[in-house]
Amino acid sequence: MSAPQKIVVLTGAGISAESGIATFRAADGLWEQHRIEDVATPEGFARDPALVHRFYNARRAAAASAAPNAAHKALARLQAAGRHDLLIVTQNVDDLHERGGASSVLHMHGSLAGALCADCGHRWPAPAVMAQEDPCPACHAAATRPDIVWFGEIPYHMDRIWGALREADLFVSIGTSGQVYPAAAFAQDAARAGAQTLELNLDPSALTAEFDEARQGPATRLVPAWVDSLLA
Ligand code: APR
Repeated sequence: MSAPQKIVVLTGAGISAESGIATFRAADGLWEQHRIEDVATPEGFARDPALVHRFYNARRAAAASAAPNAAHKALARLQAAGRHDLLIVTQNVDDLHERGGASSVLHMHGSLAGALCADCGHRWPAPAVMAQEDPCPACHAAATRPDIVWFGEIPYHMDRIWGALREADLFVSIGTSGQVYPAAAFAQDAARAGAQTLELNLDPSALTAEFDEARQGPATRLVPAWVDSLLA
């Protein structure tokens, strides 16, 4: 593999697993304990906003008490080295990339740190505990929701992400099961544009066969080793 210049890294719940944050599809994952339809769709929010807020308030508390791990910190180190045009795209809504030292991370599924008015679209920093009744600072409506992209909604930053995938020399997927689109199509998009593709994951994902190279193991071991090899 020639020395890549333009790198796009996609991360998923697996990169935060060793920080104690539950993934979605593991045996003890979030989707084993909650119905997606109830807590991760606009319809679920319309039906029972209090249930949805309880779910995200608990996730916000869990993220606040978690600490970035060696994988988050290694990506920040790669970014800080400034020797590559690196774009970090995450499906995660926690802020462990940023607390691990990375900057300008694209949160394509939104963030636990944000509140959104379902009426006027205004955004503001999320309180630790959020409720629908919280008045919007702009229009004063009681239509507050977490600034999270739910199933059936369009992810954020897609134009920038697709632009970077078209230019990438290397696409790296870390800690994601490859089951949710459009993120699950990124490896193919990048490969079609000529990029090398690498998967770093605990277990084989739904897409492992599509990657040029796949390494299995915990992110806290695989990611620092990969970054060291790139910076060596
Ligand atoms: N190190 C590396 N990979 C890990 C680790 C670890 N310590 N622990 C788990 N993994 C891998 C698992 O093998 C699995 O492939 O992380 C992946 C987690 O998969 P999911 O739980 O499906 O999470 P993710 O792929 O991020 O989900 C995508 O689905 O539910 C929606 O919007 C939600 O962003 C989320 C999207």
